[in-house]
Amino acid sequence: MARASSSPLPPDRKGSPKRHLESRMMSHGYDPETASGAIKAPLYATSTFAFPNAETGKMRFAAAHGVAGAEPGAVYSRLGHPGLELAEERLRLWDDAEACAIFHSGMSAISTSLLAYLKPGDVLLFNGPLYGGTDHFIRHYLPELGIHALEFASDEPESAIRLRLRRTGLQNRVKMIFVETPANPTNELTDLAACRALADKLSRPDQRVLLAVDNTFLGPLWQHPLQHGADLVLYSATKYIGGHSDLIAGAASGSAAVLQPIKTLRVYLGTAADAWVSWLLLRSMETLSVRMTRQAESAAVVAEYLRQHEDVVQVRYLGFLEPADGPAYTTYSNQCEGPGAMISFYLQGAEEDAFRFLNALDLIRLAVSLGGTESLAEHPATMTHSGVSPEDRERLGIHSNLIRLSIGLEHPQDLIADLELGFAAVRQQLVTAR
Ligand SMILES: Cc1ncc(COP(=O)(O)O)c(C=O)c1O
Repeated sequence: MARASSSPLPPDRKGSPKRHLESRMMSHGYDPETASGAIKAPLYATSTFAFPNAETGKMRFAAAHGVAGAEPGAVYSRLGHPGLELAEERLRLWDDAEACAIFHSGMSAISTSLLAYLKPGDVLLFNGPLYGGTDHFIRHYLPELGIHALEFASDEPESAIRLRLRRTGLQNRVKMIFVETPANPTNELTDLAACRALADKLSRPDQRVLLAVDNTFLGPLWQHPLQHGADLVLYSATKYIGGHSDLIAGAASGSAAVLQPIKTLRVYLGTAADAWVSWLLLRSMETLSVRMTRQAESAAVVAEYLRQHEDVVQVRYLGFLEPADGPAYTTYSNQCEGPGAMISFYLQGAEEDAFRFLNALDLIRLAVSLGGTESLAEHPATMTHSGVSPEDRERLGIHSNLIRLSIGLEHPQDLIADLELGFAAVRQQLVTAR
């Protein structure tokens, strides 16, 4: 298990000694005595909260507006509610973060965080590939607001990036670097320490350039970006954190100071997770470690099967990186604590072969999303990344023969038997065509 025992966090309730994260997911921040002994934290299905008196109402509003010394309390669920706060209190532990904000989707976590910091004229540096929705938001929506979105390649030397910035006259306008690593759908890695070094060089005494990292593919178990210089960790909590494909949620973790403007904007955009989603996330975090660990074990077995298969051109799985892969291997060794459970592979053939393969699967469902208990397969070029321009798709390796697998909790041998159905369907067509 990655890192679970190394957290420098305060003791749990009743002063009991610091426990492992898996144990803290059952108890941290909640005392059954406050809710008639209920073992599980209650689900507060309410939009608003009664004030015991007008003076308390006044004080809670003052606290919500940031007035120093005012004691905060529940006001109205768009601003916050007990289930949200408890889920945030538990989720922040996985990244050793001081603060966490939970949203009603990964996209709202990303968009609220970016909008909280970026203003017209600012520059956002980013590298691809990115999840299709994020790609669209950064490349197309932010420029409409006058925000410059400049892409850099994972292997682009820092001096080249800075030269490009100087040439455009924007070197003093960089506010944030945004990366997704490993990237959806190719498992491409970005070196976070190198991004931090670049961010530091671009920072000015009055303006720290923030490094924001989408940690959806490996987090919160197998990669901890805050330990590698990130200021902000972002998640689609719809994926491993939720883990059951029954909710949509997102999260941002970091220092209280970095989170503060994000939480403020969340109030006005109304992007906080509601009571039900918060409650489901609490349920999910209890099994987070055991699910992700088992999923990663099965993924290793499935990836090895794919690597041996004669109809597979290449498998993109982090567990296969080796010293000969150069910088990618170094980044993996320095930054990742496990290969995770996402596998992408290029099969022999073109789009129609990929479709034949996908249509023949039975146990593995043909659906987008990932990180759930069930295994899913999809075709990035025509599904999750269909909004990315054909040139960018080609450049980023999102070819028409690429298939993305999210490995769930089924027995790995059953998953392999299912993949055999896919390969058989492709071969059958080749035989018939001859
Ligand atoms: C890496 C990554 N980031 C962000 C998102 C967006 O999350 P959501 O669908 O929860 O809004 C996704 C969705 O697939 C994703 O894969």
